[in-house]
Amino acid sequence: MRRPIRIAVTGAAGAISNNLLFKIASGEMMGTDQPVIMQLIEVPGRMEALRGIAMELEDCAFPLLHTITLHDNVEEGFENIHYALLIGAYPRGPGMERRDLLEMNAEIFARQGKALNDFANRDVKILVVGNPANTNALIASRNAPKLSPSQFTALTRLDHNRAKGILANHTGANPKNISRIVVWGNHSTTQYPDLHHATILDEPAMQQISEEWYRSVYIPKVQQRGGEIIAARGQSSAASAAQAIVDHMHDWVLGTSPGEIVSMGIFSDGSYGIQKGIVYSFPVRCDYGRYQIVKGLEINEWGLQQMRLTEQELLDEKSAVNHLLPTATAASH
Ligand code: LMR
Repeated sequence: MRRPIRIAVTGAAGAISNNLLFKIASGEMMGTDQPVIMQLIEVPGRMEALRGIAMELEDCAFPLLHTITLHDNVEEGFENIHYALLIGAYPRGPGMERRDLLEMNAEIFARQGKALNDFANRDVKILVVGNPANTNALIASRNAPKLSPSQFTALTRLDHNRAKGILANHTGANPKNISRIVVWGNHSTTQYPDLHHATILDEPAMQQISEEWYRSVYIPKVQQRGGEIIAARGQSSAASAAQAIVDHMHDWVLGTSPGEIVSMGIFSDGSYGIQKGIVYSFPVRCDYGRYQIVKGLEINEWGLQQMRLTEQELLDEKSAVNHLLPTATAASH
């Protein structure tokens, strides 16, 4: 049996976690031979609700769930962790854009970055889910000078999965037969869901849809899906966000399937001309616990414009939180 790994989850009594924690405990995320210790974190006023979730987890008698600990602060909750899922944040309501949360959530992620720096295992892998996820990942990383920026990622797998699901529904294909979708940029309405490299049953996806549908229906639908769900449900997506977190971490740690490309928000290394120092969604492949940007994809002029637009939004978000970004110590910051 393998040694248990420590996973911290913030916002652990929230709606996403309510779907997520049971998947983790059943082995869906880290593998069915990997025991886990869950370090669950909530704000002080939600500790009773968290106790309730912990009871339910216990009552499932999951063989892989080694221990659960409950914490009302990140400093204690991040102690010795190998993985951090940063979900807790003010969520957006109807009529808001994710960037409207920038000011409200920035302080939370600055504190979490410092706590990761001081208390987490040195090779901790971090996924930021709370919005605006890309810029929150940037803030957390810049507050954690002892950790490498490559340890910080933001969730755009939700957009990636949406892009796949909506395409499957439109074409009648099974999602498992759709590959190589790319979501570029920000987890926001400027993201660019790119089907030019995608295949359905190994045939180019773009040959199976019309350009008109792609540009005027499909792209806006994927871009605005989060808002559409909030309008319909009165609260943001939860089950699909949990599934995307499982997929993101599973692929990062256990590897992507051969030939597949997935989308992850990661620090730009300058690939595809995207400025360094922002967290941008790129096409990646993962192996042995590392991700690598898929290079050399051909991008047309129109696609490049879309990529620049979402890059610009991230640069603007970065300037808006500049006061929370301590001077970088590592070159790649
Ligand atoms: C989503 O995309 O569903 C989440 O980021 C929640 C939101 O604010 O849209």
